[in-house]
Amino acid sequence: MRPRLEDLPIRDDLRGMTPYGAPQAPLPVALNVNENTHPVPKDVADDILDAVAIALRDVNRYPDREFTLLREGFADYLGHGLSADQIWAGNGSNEVLQHLLQAFAGPGRTVFGFAPTYSMYPLLTRSTGGTWVAGERGVDFTLTAESAAAQVAAARPDVVMLCAPNNPTGTPLPIDVIEAVYAASEGIVIVDEAYFEFAPAGERSALTLLPGRERMVVSRTMSKAFAFAGARVGYLAADPALIDALRLVRLPYHLSALTQAAASAALRHAPTMLAAVADIVGQRDRISATLAALGYRPYESWSNFVLFSGVEDPAATWQALYERGVLIRDIGLPRSLRVTAGTEEETSAFLDALASLDSAS
Ligand SMILES: Cc1ncc(COP(=O)(O)O)c(C=O)c1O
Repeated sequence: MRPRLEDLPIRDDLRGMTPYGAPQAPLPVALNVNENTHPVPKDVADDILDAVAIALRDVNRYPDREFTLLREGFADYLGHGLSADQIWAGNGSNEVLQHLLQAFAGPGRTVFGFAPTYSMYPLLTRSTGGTWVAGERGVDFTLTAESAAAQVAAARPDVVMLCAPNNPTGTPLPIDVIEAVYAASEGIVIVDEAYFEFAPAGERSALTLLPGRERMVVSRTMSKAFAFAGARVGYLAADPALIDALRLVRLPYHLSALTQAAASAALRHAPTMLAAVADIVGQRDRISATLAALGYRPYESWSNFVLFSGVEDPAATWQALYERGVLIRDIGLPRSLRVTAGTEEETSAFLDALASLDSAS
């Protein structure tokens, strides 16, 4: 008989855990993991390919451990007067978050977030040996400064994870809530801005709060607005001292020469890479309006996806859409499903398929 996981001498605190498992299926319309479904423009892809080809010539050597050029690129891209010594990067923002938890959480420490939130936060917390503590949200998954600060002050966590805007709900996180949570905490406050580029123009990023707040971190990713999920590049901005802490836990040379070259080249084309954002935001708003017209209840979203409730049987609706070639996400919230805003065609395919089901309750 083949050995089973339970039979292995695995760490006790990992027993019974389930791995991150968004279904990956080769369906024509995949709107389930909040990717940017617009392909990288051809001239940019060609330029990235050239940069990777050049890096390949030296691939017999280890890469720049400090990924200096890439950090300079991120500092320029983010603006806000940031310099390269305030930037860190990893293979996706998941790795960047893992570095943070390795350095600041772990055994005997707690990580706090307002549920429902990004499903990787509890997983990363536990896999790094820490304890996840879930706080509560108010009506429609919103948070007020008073409630958020009171919950954080009571829980006294070592790390707070704030998702702005929040996945899987899309809920905006007002800047005064972030300020209040920081003031109420003594630990590290991570603001995960994975979807920030989809927020209304002119909205304030938590990056503006960084000066004078040495326990605050703002993480971002190239996986969403930047259309670069397959390259696995995430990054953060924080005080240089905090960045030094991350050097203690990262694996040497964790960002490959090919990743660094590809990401730096993509960053040089930032405006082109981000060109689809306006279209995606338009499709997101179209999804919300159409869902409401169909009798569902979409939640306000500042991201590239929409959570909607009023689904009588989410598993059945998910399956019926699957059979029509449309993959969306059942994130386990009662009577709810989540869909990513795709291209106009993909979005139409989803809305048409859903309309043909008539499963709103
Ligand atoms: C809120 C949030 N943070 C971080 C990530 C991780 O993204 P990546 O590791 O691709 O950068 C995701 C991915 O869906 C996310 O939703």
